[in-house]
Amino acid sequence: MTDKYAVFGNPIEQSKSPEIHHAFAQQTQQSISYEKVLGQVGNFSASLDAFFADDNAKGCNVTVPFKQDAAKWVTQLSPLAKAAGAANTIIRLENGDFRGDTTDGQGLIVDLLDQDYKFSNSKILLIGAGGASRGVVLPLLQQGVAAVDIVNRTATKAHEIEHMFEDAKVTGFGFDELNEQRQEYDLIVNCTSASLSGDLPQLSENVLCKAKFVYDMVYQATQTVFIEKAQALGVAKTSDGLGMLVGQAAYSFYLWRNVMPKLAPVLTMLRAKL
Ligand code: ATR
Repeated sequence: MTDKYAVFGNPIEQSKSPEIHHAFAQQTQQSISYEKVLGQVGNFSASLDAFFADDNAKGCNVTVPFKQDAAKWVTQLSPLAKAAGAANTIIRLENGDFRGDTTDGQGLIVDLLDQDYKFSNSKILLIGAGGASRGVVLPLLQQGVAAVDIVNRTATKAHEIEHMFEDAKVTGFGFDELNEQRQEYDLIVNCTSASLSGDLPQLSENVLCKAKFVYDMVYQATQTVFIEKAQALGVAKTSDGLGMLVGQAAYSFYLWRNVMPKLAPVLTMLRAKL
């Protein structure tokens, strides 16, 4: 019987996950099915119960607004998912347990590795202090980076993340404080959704122009305003977040199938359709 997978969300129509996972399956010669399922808001555990009642259902992805519910439904959580209080991937284990994991942050790592980024001892700035930013801190620390600075419009939220990690490598800032320091970063990641509305975070040009690599988690058919700005300031290397989307899916696929697909062919396919 074919192993069965799905992505749950609400709404779900826009999800590219089935297309991505079918491409991974073809590339790695795995036989799987992968569908989109509209989850029940307020009774999400019923959606998961129904899906996993079929023994062929081996795992699923979970997206907005169900990631916290998924973390509560599973019987065990990875350390990352536990720290985030959210799961975007569920894996049915041989012993009947269901393991919740989160691959969102790992998606950034997978994409950056694919782009030959050298994490070791590098200095990173994250802009934004929401779930997207919080989710990448631990995966970055695990890669051996020297520092993760977090700057946010609401400075208290950046300080909260600093206190949550209790690691000398993690420091929170408001924009004024950070802009004054004029530090140099190997990588600056825009973890806000500001680009979606054409807005730029209040990071000074003096800081942005010195970055070696600028990454925007947002992706669009055209270049994001943040990437445009970085390029105009002469930043040599830039990337939007399409690779992170493919990277988080690839890591889920790896958790289920124990084989890591290549990102490049899938990225090319998706980029052509944006
Ligand atoms: P997510 O979980 O996707 O990260 P979120 O929790 O809503 O989303 O967080 C969005 C982050 O982007 C926040 O840090 C927000 O800043 P505030 O905490 O000050 O609200 C930041 N953000 C959103 N739009 C922004 C903008 N136009 N300029 C600067 N920061 C912005």
